[in-house]
Formats: sequence, C-alpha cells, structure tokens
Amino acid sequence: MLKGKHIVLGISGGIAAYKSASLVRLLVKAGAEVQVVMTPNAREFIAPLTLSTLSGNPVITEFFSANTGEWHSHVDLGLWADCMVVAPATASTIAKMACGVADNMLITTYLSAKAPVFVAPAMDLDMMAHASTQRNIELLRSYGNIIIEPAVGELASHLVGKGRMEEPEGIVKALADYFAASDDLRGKKVLITAGPTYERIDPVRFIGNYSTGKMGYALADEAAARGADVVVVSGPVAVKPREHGVRVVSVESARQMLDACRDEFALADIAIMTAAVADYAPAHPADKKIKRERTQLASLELVMNPDIAASLGETKRADQLLVGFALETDNEAENAEAKMTRKHLDMIVMNSLRDAGAGFGTDTNKVTVFFADGRVPAAFPMKSKADVARDIIDLIVKL
Ligand code: CTP
Repeated sequence: MLKGKHIVLGISGGIAAYKSASLVRLLVKAGAEVQVVMTPNAREFIAPLTLSTLSGNPVITEFFSANTGEWHSHVDLGLWADCMVVAPATASTIAKMACGVADNMLITTYLSAKAPVFVAPAMDLDMMAHASTQRNIELLRSYGNIIIEPAVGELASHLVGKGRMEEPEGIVKALADYFAASDDLRGKKVLITAGPTYERIDPVRFIGNYSTGKMGYALADEAAARGADVVVVSGPVAVKPREHGVRVVSVESARQMLDACRDEFALADIAIMTAAVADYAPAHPADKKIKRERTQLASLELVMNPDIAASLGETKRADQLLVGFALETDNEAENAEAKMTRKHLDMIVMNSLRDAGAGFGTDTNKVTVFFADGRVPAAFPMKSKADVARDIIDLIVKL
C-alpha cells in the first residue's frame, strides 16, 4: 500500500527520535519515498546524517540553507506529500501544531500540508495526561489529523505509563491501513442525492426546506477519497465538493432530481439518498410573478412529488445497494425501519431532530443505522459530518 507514496516524516525532539531511523528504513523498504523534516531540538537526539542516508534525501531542519541561502519551501513539501507523519510528536510540537506557532520548518510544513497528517505522541506519562496536552490532541483530531495512540510502557523517565511512542512497525501499519481503506471503493460508481429541492410557485417564489447539503457532500468527498467515481445530483446549495473528480448535476425540483437520478442509477453500484426532497409541489406554477393586488391567493393547490428513493428501489438490481436517510422527530427507530421497507432500501441512516447538533445546517450529526438484512443496528455518538460520512461509507463497504 505504501509503494510510491510520498511521505514527509516530521521528527521532533524527544528520546523516541532514536526510533525514527527504523521508521525511515521500514517506510523505504515498503517502497515509499521519505522526506525528513526535523525540529532543531530533534538533531540532539538523532543525527541528520543517519536519516539522510536511510531516506536517500537531504534532511531539512532550517528555513533556508546557511551555505547557499537556498530557501526550503514548506509549501512545495506540503503539496508533494501523500501524507505527513509526525513521530515522535512531543508535547511542545503538538501544542504548536494545535495553535499554529510556525517557528520551525516542521510546523510550517504541517500548516501547508494538504494530505492526511498522522501524529504519534511520545512523552512522559504526566505530560501526556495533562489537560493542556489532552486538549491540544483533541484540537488536532478536530482538524482531521489522525492520532496514533501511544502505548503504555516504560518511559525514558523509568516511570511506567501511557506516553510511549507506537513502535515503527505499528506506525507503518497505521499508514498502510489508511491507504488500503482509501482505495476500497475504487472502480465503484456512487450516486448521491443532496440538498433541498425547490418547487416553483412562480418565477420568484418556491416551496423548499432548510437542507444545506452538507451531509451529502461530506459523503461524496469521502467516497471519492476512497477511489469511487462519484456523481452528486444536487438541489440548490452553497456547498461544493472538496475532492477533485466529484461530478455535480445541479437540479431544482424533485421531478428534475428524479429524471437525473434515473439516468445515473442505471450505471451506479451504490446510491445514497440524502436529499431532503419536498413532498409536495404547486399544482399550477405561474409563468409570471403572482401580484398581490391582482391575485387573491388564499391557498395553493399542491400535488404530491415522486418518491425518488422508492422509485429507484423498485428498479434496483441485486448487484446494487440503495441507502436512504430518515430525519425523524418521534418514534424514530420505528419510522426509519418502516421507510427502509417501504422504499426497498438496504440500509437507512436515521437522525433525530431531538438531538441538538443533528439534522439540517449543523456541522455535526448523530446517527443510528438500520439494515434490511436484519443485522444489529449501529449507533454512533455525535461527530463531525466528515466523520459520520466515514462511518457510513465503512458500513456500506462491509455490506
Ligand atoms: N426521499 C426521496 N424522495 C422523496 C422523499 C424522500 O428520495 N420524495 C428519500 C430521502 O432522500 C431519504 C428518504 O427518502 O433518503 C426518506 O426521506 P424522508 O423525507 O424522511 O421520508 P418521507 O418518505 O418523505 O417521509 P415523511 O416526510 O413522511 O417522514
């Protein structure tokens, strides 16, 4: 999994830096290209010469070369990286990463990195347990960084506790597992509906809802990052996909969404219905703006919109997977399971408006997932929508 991967290894100044030599050797042996960036303190623990010899690349510690004046571009390094690993990550480096204190090359590279960042903390048990370190680690997690938890063991202080850096073999495995997961949808075509639909009353008014599309686009990004060919059939939203290659088909009404989905579904392996489709549309949308003075409009005649999920469910082939969402306010589990059966879904993701932080417009969500094949439902705590997307895609891959 690591063959040909560009890995920036950031080494900060802790005793565990002596293990960096083995880490570089294992990464190079696995076929990765390694660029080491050290903090000035790290040089006291391991010689740059050892690391440059093992990696086959000059080690970077300063912003520019004292001899030639050549500037070391953290921006180029950040763009070059397929991932960055900070190992060992001392309490001080973790704090600087959390707060953006860009006073050395490791931190500037971290701030410029576009790729996933892995952090392997290493420190004394009391430093590790301190509220400030714990808060900083939580901040890194909230930025999407992946923490490789330290083990419990004998520390440099001869005390025994949590703070021992994960062994180089464990770090290499964490990276390999990540890259393996990041490819588990390769070759699959995924259709996602997202956002609200607008049902036209006249050229300036519509019936709609508060959906922002965030959950659907988070799923699109996650599926694309894992190698899928993704198309989002999207109602009017302000969000955009972050991943390259996610195709967006923009529609406005439920009818248009259904037409676009029918075309795309025939070729799809997986369809995820996150759109908040308006259940009704005005029966006679006006061509011209309805004028208050001239029209005594006391009520609107409505017609029921097509149920997109149910209609795809009817034509679903055995090799296709259809996933729905259910936003409920009461009798949540019962309603969600009934929807799954009615629409021929394989899986339904339920969120409750009773949970603060779940539902429309928020950046977080709390979901419970039900399965048509009767397997035990999966309940998750409140998480960012990006993390919820990862959990959902993990479940889809298992199915
Ligand atoms: N859905 C759809 N087309 C519709 C209505 C819903 O594709 N016209 C999809 C949604 O994208 C979601 C699932 O069906 O995946 C459930 O949506 P929801 O609005 O909760 O269900 P409804 O069937 O509209 O039920 P109700 O509004 O009565 O709760």
